[in-house]
Amino acid sequence: MITPDQLRTKYLDFFKSKDHAVISGKSLLPENDPTVLFTTAGMHPLVPYLLGESHPAGKRLVDYQKCVRTGDIDEVGDPAHLTCFEMLGNWSLGDYFKKDSIAYSWEFLTSGDWLALDPRKLSVTVFMGDDNAPRDDESATHWKSVGMPDDRIAYLPASDNWWAAGPTGPCGPDTEIFYWVGDGLPPAGSNKGTDPANWMEIWNNVFMQFNRVDERTLVKLPAQNVDTGMGLERTVTVLNGKTSVYQTEIFQPIIAAIEHVSGYAYGTDPAKDASVRIIADHVRASTFIIGDPKGVSPSNVGAGYVVRRLIRRAVRHGKKLGIEGSFLAGPAMIVIERFGGAYPELVENRARVLKELEREEAKFLETLQKGEHEFEKMLPNLLRNPQKIMSGRLAFKLYDTYGFPIELTDELASENGMKVNRPEFDEAFKKHQELSRAGAEQTFKGGLADQSEQTTKYHTATHLLQKALRMVLGDHVAQKGSNITVERMRFDFAHPAPMTADEVARVQAIVNEQIARDLPVTMEMMGLEDAKASGATALFGEKYESVVKVYTIGDFSKEVCGGPHVERTGLLGKFVIQKEQSSSAGVRRIRAVLE
Ligand code: SER
Repeated sequence: MITPDQLRTKYLDFFKSKDHAVISGKSLLPENDPTVLFTTAGMHPLVPYLLGESHPAGKRLVDYQKCVRTGDIDEVGDPAHLTCFEMLGNWSLGDYFKKDSIAYSWEFLTSGDWLALDPRKLSVTVFMGDDNAPRDDESATHWKSVGMPDDRIAYLPASDNWWAAGPTGPCGPDTEIFYWVGDGLPPAGSNKGTDPANWMEIWNNVFMQFNRVDERTLVKLPAQNVDTGMGLERTVTVLNGKTSVYQTEIFQPIIAAIEHVSGYAYGTDPAKDASVRIIADHVRASTFIIGDPKGVSPSNVGAGYVVRRLIRRAVRHGKKLGIEGSFLAGPAMIVIERFGGAYPELVENRARVLKELEREEAKFLETLQKGEHEFEKMLPNLLRNPQKIMSGRLAFKLYDTYGFPIELTDELASENGMKVNRPEFDEAFKKHQELSRAGAEQTFKGGLADQSEQTTKYHTATHLLQKALRMVLGDHVAQKGSNITVERMRFDFAHPAPMTADEVARVQAIVNEQIARDLPVTMEMMGLEDAKASGATALFGEKYESVVKVYTIGDFSKEVCGGPHVERTGLLGKFVIQKEQSSSAGVRRIRAVLE
């Protein structure tokens, strides 16, 4: 048996032996990136470096990264989908390319010194080519030279073998590696193209050579990069001879905690098993999101809304298992205990995680009670309907106004001999979803790797603003968050009281003075401790590499930061503070533009 801890260690050790620097994974909540709610892949925090910035730790990197993908929350419950997962990743920033990347993957997977997987159970896919780029014969040749038989290589289209994290940003053809999860050995000719259900993807090697600037334009990156991502949960699954991530040591203890509180034995009823899996996934994801150093609380917006949905869905499925009252703290404690070694922030934030879970569960249970009460009020009228049909509009009202889930309205209706008009409900629901999707698409407008000139200017303006705030308000001002779009910047910082009009005016004037001085912006790399000793500002609670980049703006500011920045402050234009308001207790928010 191999545990997740052992796999993480082996992966890091293997790539260390190939001269990769171990870097630390980052927060689940991306700093300075308004385009996504969560870190969705190991490469996400590395986007600037894939686009050409130099990385302080060098050109060969390896790490493990917690990730959250929210695209398919409603699909979680089947044996494969997860909302929250870990990615083991290695990168070459303009160093080695396809040949070595493929050779490293093969060695790590099959060598007796490392994972010792049976090579007969491995297959790969490579890009079949299209108008953007040719067929990736080069990767196929390298696969054959390490020993991959011809018939285990499938050539697939861009939908399978072209990887991009967002509508813009670094991208390229990839080669994906699969493990056989069917019975016995795979028959001759079997691969992902001929028999998709029996092959589980475990690793993806992306050859990032392009930057997608917009829908029509693909430009070559300055360097040929490698970005690989290995799914930790899936690899643990195949290494332990299992076919579902939920059968592994990663989920079994969480499932045992759910069995304990519900009295239900996993494996006896397929519908209830799905509920157990949903709770297990959602409680793990919520624990990671709330327990992040930049953790969010359940709310009605952004990442907070995602946690709210996860917790509420878990509670609903808890009810299906017959659980009354709050129950998520038990399984959450198991998550903290099992993953706290690799992610110490979970242990540090334990009390907050448990409190937030309980609070949200209680709130939702109250919602459910309220919804039931509203339903009862509607009941006499409903019963007058001779067809015994409850209108979809009313069911939607319960959902929209009280957050009452449709499945529960269905249940209450049927207990009273009625049926909900589902097509009508679905239509109202779809309209509502289209509206929220339109909102979400706005969020993605800039693309994952928005490094346009304008956003770069805002990055530099953020440094000027932070220093000016410290000068006017005092050294207690610490950055709590930052969010930049092409149109504006937002900066959250610790300060106990609203700023006076005079303070706002002074801060604005100081920033504009530094712009007028046309100060040079320079970068140096140094050890983290040296950087701090030299007076550079760093984010409290952020994980940094041992060697960091320090950006200095003339004689005015010095900050640890990944970049990018403009070369001179004179390029910024006029800095205008539009608003100063409260963000949360003890945290103020400034919204500003460059005109
Ligand atoms: N970025 C690629 C992925 O997420 C490989 O790391 O699959």
